[in-house]
Amino acid sequence: MVRRPHSCQTWASMIYYWDQAIEVGGMKRIDRVRNQGVPDVAVQEDFGEPVAGGGLLHRRAFLRGGVAFAGATGALAVTARDARSAADIAQGTPITMHTPGAPFSKYGVPSSHERQVVRAFTPNDRRPGTGASRTPLQMLNGTITPNGLHFERHHNGIPDTNPNTHQLLIHGLVERPLFFGLEDLHRYPMETHIRFIECSGNSGGQRGEEVSQRTAGELHGLVSCSEWTGVRLAVLLEEAGVDPSAKWILAEGADAAGMSRSVPLEKCWEDAVIALYQNGEAIRPEQGHPMRLLLPGYEGNMSVKWLHRIEVTETATYTKDETSKYSDLLPSGKSLLFTFTQGVKSVITQPSQGHKLPGAGTYQITGLAWSGAGRVREVEVSADGGTSWAEAALDGPVLPMALTRFRLPWAWTGDRLSIQSRATDDAGNVQPTRDEWLSLYGPSQFYHYNAIQLWGVNSGGDVWNIHYA
Ligand code: CO
Repeated sequence: MVRRPHSCQTWASMIYYWDQAIEVGGMKRIDRVRNQGVPDVAVQEDFGEPVAGGGLLHRRAFLRGGVAFAGATGALAVTARDARSAADIAQGTPITMHTPGAPFSKYGVPSSHERQVVRAFTPNDRRPGTGASRTPLQMLNGTITPNGLHFERHHNGIPDTNPNTHQLLIHGLVERPLFFGLEDLHRYPMETHIRFIECSGNSGGQRGEEVSQRTAGELHGLVSCSEWTGVRLAVLLEEAGVDPSAKWILAEGADAAGMSRSVPLEKCWEDAVIALYQNGEAIRPEQGHPMRLLLPGYEGNMSVKWLHRIEVTETATYTKDETSKYSDLLPSGKSLLFTFTQGVKSVITQPSQGHKLPGAGTYQITGLAWSGAGRVREVEVSADGGTSWAEAALDGPVLPMALTRFRLPWAWTGDRLSIQSRATDDAGNVQPTRDEWLSLYGPSQFYHYNAIQLWGVNSGGDVWNIHYA
């Protein structure tokens, strides 16, 4: 059997790449098991058996390299295309080998075959720059969001800031009010961190009774993850000299909404960054060019874009963006203000709504997990309505306040069932069920929805959004 990816079937390709990627790392893990005196053959047999209902396999079942696939029987059989004849093989010679390829380009763009991989949004004719666009989570893999696919949330459009004249003012309860231009900031020590940003309105549509048939990205794509580079806010605050009476800052953007939020000074000392670069290039206009605040783990709108002013204050400012919006309505009718940290959360991105499984066989369930409180400690997957759970493998290194990729092999028998994932972070927070989340808030609460997402799979292989198994 010649093992090669299907040219047009995402599923088979994905399993192929997984198989290639783990061969080296996988042998190390099997060695470790061997050292414990467990025979290799026994280990393989164990891994081939489902570890939870619905056909979920051990997270290491794919770690055996070619053995499992070449001689596959039963649950672990992965179907690749056989080369049947010499003619088949000749026909398989890529046509691109016969003519020279395209020339260089000044700025690369994705393959023309990837044009469907775009942000999702509904055009807002009355207020074109107000609203959100979402990352197509179900079409991506890994953990870093490409810059052109990072979600957007704008409150009155994207300003065209001039990096040569843009300045950040730090004033208020300080000894020396200071302006920082881009050149000034480049003289300070910089740091680089991989961090997710999630809008607190992400997944809010799932709280209602209506089960909308939208993709994983349309439902949960107000979360993205980048490598951010910039200067620690603490360094600049020290330069300005903060008055001992100060407890908060006000961060204001240079957009037409004057988007502004109060941030506890504690967070500013801890890990706040004035970010200038995103995945190695200057932050894009829609992400706050030329500089944005980055508050790791906090609700996205607080990482104020197009940042131009920080006022050091004694109390919170109670801006329109933290009173009329981004507050959490409780069943009592009262609202919680200043709920900053994004809860522990996960979502299966493949397979997910809109995907179709071509038939019974072995698949890889994969998705993303994150927590504003720290690192993801564990992701469990259930394929039997939550009766039993299997621990997923996590792509390493697992970073705090960053998207974490999980994977689990799955032998789908063709039966109708549901799949779901549940994340736990290293602070011990466990992702709630939908009912658990709803019991915390009134029916009108919209923000901070982090409940478990279920996908239904019918016998035809169609994958649907469902609220209950
Ligand atoms: Co909040």
